[in-house]
Amino acid sequence: MNSAIEQVGTPNAAADVDVIVSIRDLNVFYGKFHAVGNVSFDVPKNQITALIGPSGCGKSTVLRCINRMNDLIPEARVEGRIEYHETDINSSNVDPVEVRRHVGMVFQKPNPFPKSIYENISWGAQINGHKGNYDELVERCLRQAALWDEVKDKLQESGLALSGGQQQRLCIARTLAINPDVILMDEPCSALDPISTLRIEDLMRELERQYTIVIVTHNMQQAARVSDQTVFFSLGENRMGVLVEASQTRQLFTNPNDQRTEDYITGRFG
Ligand SMILES: Nc1ncnc2c1ncn2[C@@H]1O[C@H](COP(=O)(O)OP(=O)(O)O)[C@@H](O)[C@H]1O
Ligand SMILES: [Mg+2]
Repeated sequence: MNSAIEQVGTPNAAADVDVIVSIRDLNVFYGKFHAVGNVSFDVPKNQITALIGPSGCGKSTVLRCINRMNDLIPEARVEGRIEYHETDINSSNVDPVEVRRHVGMVFQKPNPFPKSIYENISWGAQINGHKGNYDELVERCLRQAALWDEVKDKLQESGLALSGGQQQRLCIARTLAINPDVILMDEPCSALDPISTLRIEDLMRELERQYTIVIVTHNMQQAARVSDQTVFFSLGENRMGVLVEASQTRQLFTNPNDQRTEDYITGRFG
């Protein structure tokens, strides 16, 4: 991707942190509804950033901006600047399909293709012009997603025959096969039982060495357990989502900068 680099401030990144995605003055509208107002934060490379806040405060909306998924919602309009490796992803010369190749997405409800476990991984890679050995690709991605040992003897069985937690790991493996460097996850554990949830959290910690993860979660404990940075959103006037605080996770949960954060994490928020 080409870049038109512009110096921007980095309000929440430490000086020695590599920023992979930088969001500045993001505003999102659905028709006339101003859903997200003036959001700015940085996503540090090889870290997990958690987006938390009450329902409807724009977490999914912000997440979808990072790989231009809002393009697929006709009434959505995005203003502001999102840089991925210093390239403005909303610039007219950037292909959104190309953005999604670098910034993958995992959804709330596991959604494997109605195909074999093997094809769930090979198919998308094939469409994206993967060159090389598919057996190796399938094994590597399943290993990375901590699923290989459970499925290696049944790669031709349907992905839909797996348990919910296994299906979600299959979806993560499928995303890895596209070779992204950022992975967006929108409440990836909300349809899973506690054991499967912990497995996904362990997996995220493992993946963080090689990838950058942004996760939306309504579960504060999950954000506290898994993330390095937490971004707290709240509802402002006219139900507009606003960013209250972006801090190191430990700090946000022990010594938040903003009273609204304090109220939310201590359960005083109604
Ligand atoms: N496709 C859409 N059309 C209209 N309004 C939407 C659409 N998607 C989300 N919204 C609204 O935008 C606001 C933020 O939604 P969302 O990003 O889904 O919040 P969250 O993920 O924090 O629960 C909500 O008021 C929601 O109703
Ligand atoms: Mg959401």
